[in-house]
Amino acid sequence: MSLPETVRLVEVGPRDGLQNEAQPISVADKVRLVDDLSEAGLSYIEVGSFVSPKWVPQMAGSAEVFAGIVQRPGVTYAALAPNLRGFEDALAAGVKEVAVFAAASEAFSQRNINCSISESLKRFEPIMQEARAQGVRVRGYVSCVLGCPYEGQVRAEQVTPVARALFDMGCYEVSLGDTIGAGTAGDTRRLFEVVSREVPREALAGHFHDTYGQALANVYASLLEGIQVFDSSVAGLGGCPYAKGATGNVATEDVLYLLQGLGIETGIDLDRLIAAGQRISGVLGRANGSRVARARTAQ
Ligand code: HMG
Ligand code: MG
Repeated sequence: MSLPETVRLVEVGPRDGLQNEAQPISVADKVRLVDDLSEAGLSYIEVGSFVSPKWVPQMAGSAEVFAGIVQRPGVTYAALAPNLRGFEDALAAGVKEVAVFAAASEAFSQRNINCSISESLKRFEPIMQEARAQGVRVRGYVSCVLGCPYEGQVRAEQVTPVARALFDMGCYEVSLGDTIGAGTAGDTRRLFEVVSREVPREALAGHFHDTYGQALANVYASLLEGIQVFDSSVAGLGGCPYAKGATGNVATEDVLYLLQGLGIETGIDLDRLIAAGQRISGVLGRANGSRVARARTAQ
C-alpha cells in the first residue's frame, strides 16, 4: 500500500498530556498552550475533559480553559465526555466536538471509568442521541489495544467488537490507543489489518504512547496500513492516571518530522510547534520529551 499524501494530527497534549500532572497548572497556562498549538497550525486540539474531578483533578478547569481560548476558524476544539453529564457540561462550555472512551480490556474499563465495557457502550448511547440532535460530532477511543496494565496481552480480535460498536453507534472516527506504549510495529500492522475488516480504515486513527520507545515506528507501521490520522502530544507530554508507568504520547514534533521526511502534508509549522513545546515544558519544569525539539533547541 502506498503512503497517504496528507495526514491529520490530533493534538492531545492539553488533555492526555496534562491530565496526569500532579502539580497545579493554571488555566492561563493551559489556555496559552492551546492558543500556541492553534497558531502552529494544528487543526484539531483536544482541550480537556468533562470527567469527575475526583477521578482526574487536573481536568477540573476545562470549562474555564474553553472560555479562555481563541477559537480560530477551521480548528476543532474537542473534549472527553464519559457520560451524559460530561456531555452536557461540555456543551454548556461551548464544546462543538466530544470524544467518548471505551477499552478493549475489562479490567482497564473498570479502573478507568468504573464500569464494564458493555456498560460503557450503553452509557454512550444517550450521548450519541443528544449529539445527533445537537449536531455535535463524536469521536471514539478504544484503550489498551496492544496490551493492558492489568490483564497483559490483548488480542486484536478483542479490539474489533469495541471499535465496531463505537463506529456503529455513530462515532465518525475511532482512535485505537496503545495506552501502555508496549506495542511493536508488527503488532500495530496486525491490529489495523484485523480491525479494518469491520471498521473502514478511513475511520480509524492511531494513538501511541511511547513507553517502550516504539511509538514512532508504530506510526510508520500504521501509515503502511493506510491510516491517516494520529493522536500525539506536543513535547511528548503525558501518561494515563490509570496506566501506572506509562509515559506520554508520541511527541507531535517527532511525528511531524517523520511526516515531513516522507513528503506528507499536515499544515503544521515545526518551529512554532517546537516553541509551544518549549514553553509548556518550562511551565512544568521538565526537559522537553520531543527528540526533534531537543535536537533543534541544542543547535
Ligand atoms: P463513578 O464514580 O462511577 O460515577 O465515576 P458516578 O456516576 O457514581 O458519580 C460519582 C461522582 O462523580 C458524583 O459526585 C457525580 O456527580 C460525579 P458526588 O455525588 O460523589 O459528589 N460525576 C461527574 N462529575 C463531573 N463530570 C462528570 C461526572 N460524572 C459523574 N462527567 C466516571 C464514573 C466515568 C464519572 C469516572 O470514572 C470518571 O470521571 N472517569 C474519568 C477517567 C478519565 O478521565 N481517564 C483518563 C482519560 S482516558 C485515557 O487517557 C485513554 C486515552 O488517552 C486513550 C489511550 O491512551 O488509550 C483516551
Ligand atoms: Mg492516551
